[in-house]
Amino acid sequence: MSPVNPKDKIIFALDVEHFGEAQHWVNLLKDRVGIFKVGKQLFTHAGPKVIDMIRKKGQKVFLDLKYHDIPNTVAKAGEEATKLEVAMFNLHALGGLAMMKKTVEASRVIAKGLGIPKPLILAVTILTSMDEEALREVGVQGPLLEEVGRLAFLSLKAGMDGVVASPQEIGIIRERCGEKFLIVTPGIRHPSDKRDDQKRTMSPKEAIAAGADYLVIGRPIKEAKDPLEAVERIIEDIS
Ligand code: C5P
Repeated sequence: MSPVNPKDKIIFALDVEHFGEAQHWVNLLKDRVGIFKVGKQLFTHAGPKVIDMIRKKGQKVFLDLKYHDIPNTVAKAGEEATKLEVAMFNLHALGGLAMMKKTVEASRVIAKGLGIPKPLILAVTILTSMDEEALREVGVQGPLLEEVGRLAFLSLKAGMDGVVASPQEIGIIRERCGEKFLIVTPGIRHPSDKRDDQKRTMSPKEAIAAGADYLVIGRPIKEAKDPLEAVERIIEDIS
């Protein structure tokens, strides 16, 4: 279900190397964002203890490791993510229907056995760093938005809870997958923000109005002169 409270819609990308840096950001932002996203760099460097640290502060974790492997391997990784009691984790829809189904089922069984909630499991459709030319290079012929819509629908069919997608893709995903399917969008920038390497951006307000359930935001908060003011401005924008 989409969060009601504006602050809970914000997922802060903990794109840092060290445990200590992660701890600093969690302490600073814990009353102002809903979820902390731990990605490949931080997790590879600091491991599960960073997840424990965030959870012990009463905060939620999105484990962003984008699993993509044979069904058994991803399902087993999903079981471990479930045991870490993260609120969300993700995988690549291109791993296929069987891989997604097996992971959803494995996570459900483990969560039930432990008496904990099953994490939300999200699919990445087509990476937002890829354009149509990059898709052609890997042999995908259809229009990009069509591929995103198709993979989002496959994810829904597999029992996934939602997708991670660019704000520009929200329309086609809502059309194919309905209102309840969760859409998590990175690439969020105010018109006055630096774009960094994000190409197709929307403001926080525009993305929510377009139908996003959660916004993943990193550098516009992390690199702001006053990060707390930056996050307050985002909350105000989406309220
Ligand atoms: O700093 P910024 O707000 O651009 O951070 C966006 C976060 O969302 C980063 O952690 C990035 O890896 C992640 N992300 C993304 N595009 C995707 C999937 C994830 O920017 N398609």
